[in-house]
Amino acid sequence: MTVSLWGGRFAGGPSDALAALSKSTHFDWRLAHYDLAGSRAHARVLHKAGLLSDDDLETMLRGLRALAEDVTSGAFAPAEDDEDVHTALERGLIQRIGPEVGGRLRAGRSRNDQIAAQFRMYLRDQARLIGAKVLDVVQALVDQAAEHAEVAMPGRTHLQHAQPVLLAHHLQAHGWALLRDVERLIDWDRRAAVSPYGSGALAGSSLGLDPESVAHDLGMPCSVENSIDGTASRDFAAEFAFVAAMTAVDISRLAEEIILWATAEFAFVTLDDAYSTGSSIMPQKKNPDVAELARGKAGRLIGDLTGLLATLKGLPLAYNRDLQEDKEPVFDAVDTLEVLLPAVSGMVATLTFHRERMESLAPQGFSLATDVAEWLVREGVAFRDAHDIAGACVRHCEEQGIGLEDLADDDLRRISDHLTPDVRSVLTVRGSLVSRNAHGGTAPARVGEQRSHQLRQVDRA
Ligand code: ARG
Repeated sequence: MTVSLWGGRFAGGPSDALAALSKSTHFDWRLAHYDLAGSRAHARVLHKAGLLSDDDLETMLRGLRALAEDVTSGAFAPAEDDEDVHTALERGLIQRIGPEVGGRLRAGRSRNDQIAAQFRMYLRDQARLIGAKVLDVVQALVDQAAEHAEVAMPGRTHLQHAQPVLLAHHLQAHGWALLRDVERLIDWDRRAAVSPYGSGALAGSSLGLDPESVAHDLGMPCSVENSIDGTASRDFAAEFAFVAAMTAVDISRLAEEIILWATAEFAFVTLDDAYSTGSSIMPQKKNPDVAELARGKAGRLIGDLTGLLATLKGLPLAYNRDLQEDKEPVFDAVDTLEVLLPAVSGMVATLTFHRERMESLAPQGFSLATDVAEWLVREGVAFRDAHDIAGACVRHCEEQGIGLEDLADDDLRRISDHLTPDVRSVLTVRGSLVSRNAHGGTAPARVGEQRSHQLRQVDRA
């Protein structure tokens, strides 16, 4: 049986070429259960408006339930001739309860408001799944931070040694970025939870249907204020794609560091065998493919976002068929994150950190020079001069091939009157870390507090 939703005014059917171009069941079928939930809600408002008898409502709901079971079991699937998910399911309903009752469901709704509502419903569910998986990555980072609470590492700017920091501080920094992505999803959901059902094709319905009650039926607190906006807007999809891309970019920055840290030159981490791959030719290789794929997939998610924005940019209101192109990029972003995130959390959870290596590099590259300058400031020296004096220490040490901690009393005096042997109190990594003890700093006590805040946010989200 072929069901077309729009054949009446046409003398003939669509060309094969148009049908092939137009078809979307190969990607929108994943919305089937949302379409069915929308249909159940729509049947109820038709009944409430007096457009469906008690018996018809019962028949309709029974048919929709049977159809839902068949969709779940795979007994019902889109046929070659079905244009989209909505067409296929209308065919399925009519097959089950006949055209007399089945044909009543379409009153007062359009695929334009259906698709806009179902896309929101689907993304709201995916946002919860993705949020939970992002939190798993944060949890893995926090666990590693707790296990290495006191380990120092070289903090970098411009990828050059800058100042020593705690590894935990660094890992938790990635955690905060990811927690903000989860917050974005939560915040996004508030705007997405507005139902376009009842907007019809664009102008609303004349049949006395109640869009608010459909919204509530579908777990949304309200329906759209404007039926044109309801059917034409896709900023909910673009915003979701942005949050997905931002998440992927944040993961990618973590991944890039893991790739660097796993090199022989850094040797900060060893990847677990379960999260690394070998080479088909070089027997010794152990490659960080999870991290590399994470970095690569970020490019893909950026493409999903920009592709969608490009689709939207020139569209006049209200619905245009271009909007059928809104789904695949966002579905791709969802699918990509859902396979990527568990691999990343597993990789992070199973990393082995090489404490001694990180600790031994922490003071290198004159990373304590700022501590000298700040010690001088506490001694009353203007920072401008203190910076010069600490810089002179570095120059001297570089010439002599020694470290700042090796400066003899005489050297110190020769460089500046302000430098006394007391400066050595800050010339240790531990001293430097402990001294950065204001809120947000890398002092071990602060980083410990920060970790409890982070964990509290993970639990709350
Ligand atoms: N499949 C379409 C979409 O994804 C919905 C159908 C609207 N089609 C139409 N001719 N008005 O946007």
